[in-house]
Amino acid sequence: MFIVKKKIHGNDYFYLRESKRIDGKVKSIDLGYLGKTKEEADKKLKERLKKESTQEIKMKKEVLESTKINVEEMAMFCKKKGFIYQSGEIYGGFAGFWDFGHLGVELNNNLKSEWWKFHVSQRKDIVGMDGSIITHPQIWKASGHVDSFNDVFVVCKKCKKPGKVDRHELGKVKCACGGEYDKETAKDFELMFKTKVGATGEAYLRPETAQLIFANFKFVQENARMKLPFGIAQVGKSFRNEIAPRDFLFRSREFEQMEIEYFIEPNQKCLYEIPDEEILIYSSEAQVKNQEPVKMKIKDALKKGIIKKDWHAYWLATEFSWFKNLGANPNNFRIRQHMNDEKSHYAVDTWDLEYRFPFGWKELEGIADRGDFDLSQHQKFSKKDLSVFDEETKKKVLPHVICEPSLGVGRALLVFMFDSYFDDKERGNIVLKLHPKLAPIKAAIFPIVKRPEFEKIAEEILDDLSEEWNVIYDKAGSIGRRYARNDEVGTPFCITIDEESLKKKDVTIRDRDTTNQIRVKASELKEVLRRLINKKLKFEDAGKLIK
Ligand code: GAP
Repeated sequence: MFIVKKKIHGNDYFYLRESKRIDGKVKSIDLGYLGKTKEEADKKLKERLKKESTQEIKMKKEVLESTKINVEEMAMFCKKKGFIYQSGEIYGGFAGFWDFGHLGVELNNNLKSEWWKFHVSQRKDIVGMDGSIITHPQIWKASGHVDSFNDVFVVCKKCKKPGKVDRHELGKVKCACGGEYDKETAKDFELMFKTKVGATGEAYLRPETAQLIFANFKFVQENARMKLPFGIAQVGKSFRNEIAPRDFLFRSREFEQMEIEYFIEPNQKCLYEIPDEEILIYSSEAQVKNQEPVKMKIKDALKKGIIKKDWHAYWLATEFSWFKNLGANPNNFRIRQHMNDEKSHYAVDTWDLEYRFPFGWKELEGIADRGDFDLSQHQKFSKKDLSVFDEETKKKVLPHVICEPSLGVGRALLVFMFDSYFDDKERGNIVLKLHPKLAPIKAAIFPIVKRPEFEKIAEEILDDLSEEWNVIYDKAGSIGRRYARNDEVGTPFCITIDEESLKKKDVTIRDRDTTNQIRVKASELKEVLRRLINKKLKFEDAGKLIK
């Protein structure tokens, strides 16, 4: 690239030019206008090169793609390693239900705990609650679920297999085999599970955790003395009698949700800065016009009116940042606005955070503006006043749910598993590069060989570290085999006790992702690990690097 001066009507203009060989001939291409003076042109070129090099660094970082496997292969891997099993497998399996093994339960708990810390513990404006699973039947009447929470049951004319579509999809979507669904036999299918209560009563298992938040809204608000704007969060099981559960944890009949109802005074402005996140944005308008999604900053989409409300932009960016901070690959995410005929009965506007699953772009988390639909429905059905008193205006207001970030634990778990799965051909094993905060086992402790003096130190370290984390002791097989075993289940650090440990009272820590090793004083090990797990310290700076 070089700067050229052009004289136009007696004035100087500076341009950036590049020479390229095209079809065997060298051609000059103007890359852009740089200004009217050489100084201006130099300055602009410098800025441009700087911008391009940061973009390049950013792209290089993003190129670190995990190994692509399909969802069946992921399910097999999870079963083989002890993460997740098909429920009732010894009896042939129970479709839509999953059991978590010794690693799956740790990963699931870590994921929920990280979500809770980020959304509840570390914020002053959100508190938690935990409602019952079998709920008062009136809740579901008021919420509209009894009348509207249905899928349409369809049968394929070609392969004769049953399936489900949303009402707005009827006549538009086809079966996976390419066949059309029979419109004649299509019928509504209630998604809520019914159960008996006592001798005669009937009730539902909750299909979402959200309604428990609305039903308890007034108690939580008063007891926690929350002032608008504020949120109430809940994590727990939900149940849906899905016609066609599929894609492993993606669509199950029993699953967990992590939900927030965020309440504001009608028209209250967002109090927080919108995180500086860039993502593919797919508005309903672009979908109608058959256009591609565009990559842009979420705050710019708000400025351009693509995202209508500041709170919506804030929550979309916040939710995306949660995934990114825990190591998910940002290139696999986009936000997509619901089309008018796709919106749920309660929604004013909905954007989904979508993830590029191996089976296509799919909803990962729904982020809906529910307006005052739910509180006014519960107010009407319960005949209780659910409004709150506003100290400033000295008036009562019925809060609006400006955003409901609603995320399935299982779908989030799949995201982290897919993005951290690397088939390392050089090492000859899978390396599951889970963020250390999510990793089921934080450290594996090995005596280098089975000798009582090494084993004694290893066991002491195990006792000390297990006060804080899930750590394991492993002395079976060669050291290489033990490293590989731990790489495959995502253990970020392996701690080895060897001959030198006896003399110098130190240990070796090996980093899963780079296989680099450092030596650290045994007395400082716990603090070093704490900082490594929280990514407060670069591995190579945490001790003496072994060449
Ligand atoms: N309270 C709003 C609500 O429940 P939703 O879009 O029906 O909205 C929210 O569900 C999230 O719950 C979804 O984005 C998904 O992550 C998860 N989810 C919903 N149905 C699911 C299913 N059958 N299996 C697994 N996760 C599911």
